[in-house]
Amino acid sequence: MHFDAENVKIVRKDILIMNRVDIIQAIINRKKAKIYLEIGFGYGDCFLNIRAPRKIIVDPRFIILKKRILKYYYKNISKNIFNKYYEMTSDKFFTAKQTLLKTQLLDVVFLDGLHTYKQSLKDLLNSLKFLNEDGVIILHDCNPRSETEAYPANSYEEAANMNLPGWTEYWSGDVWKTIAYLRSTRDDLDIFVLNFDHGVGIVTKGIQKNKLGYSREDIENLSYKDLERNREQILNLKTPQYFEEFLKTLH
Ligand SMILES: C[S@@+](CC[C@H](N)C(=O)[O-])C[C@H]1O[C@@H](n2cnc3c(N)ncnc32)[C@H](O)[C@@H]1O
Repeated sequence: MHFDAENVKIVRKDILIMNRVDIIQAIINRKKAKIYLEIGFGYGDCFLNIRAPRKIIVDPRFIILKKRILKYYYKNISKNIFNKYYEMTSDKFFTAKQTLLKTQLLDVVFLDGLHTYKQSLKDLLNSLKFLNEDGVIILHDCNPRSETEAYPANSYEEAANMNLPGWTEYWSGDVWKTIAYLRSTRDDLDIFVLNFDHGVGIVTKGIQKNKLGYSREDIENLSYKDLERNREQILNLKTPQYFEEFLKTLH
């Protein structure tokens, strides 16, 4: 490995600079996207920092502290004037708002709600129904760093209360199986995962290269050990440099 100035710059970019917010904003800017949907608000670290003409956020429980929301609003007020907040589950949102979604198709979607295989897949398939032909879906937490982080619990609270070894308060669950499933079953989607910020999955309509051969049953039975053995291939892991090239293909 060469440690010339060029490489040092790249390493720093890998580790320090890129995260989900950078990726989402770069996609929105490149596409001049109008409608942005995020599922899962958390503390608003992503949603409130994104700039887009129309932003929609869905969460069954907006837990953000009043002081914090005020701070964000003052700091980023121009980014958050026309936000639409829906306090409900993603399932309820996609059912209750389908008429609206059909008339205003989504340009960029960020999925970061309940971190289970079943729910993340449901959120992804629902988003696809209302996605513009050239839209982009971003799926967070596709590349868990440990078995504990990837524990297939039913909720964050359940995982947090299990006394799992090496618990860091970060839980990605088994969202990675949604990538394995799509990479095995969908010829019509282009899918890759950026190898930083817990794995940022990118899904667009297109042709899938290097399809996987898992059946639905295989995927149910895959364990974290299987992911560890075959991470690059299962997730189609890519670097920030690849993302820069991908960005140029968007219009
Ligand atoms: C990890 S946080 C989101 C973080 C945020 N997207 C960010 O990047 O800063 C996950 C959020 O998903 C929400 N959530 C849990 N179940 C959900 C569901 N069924 N539908 C939508 N949101 C859900 C939780 O309330 C929590 O606020």
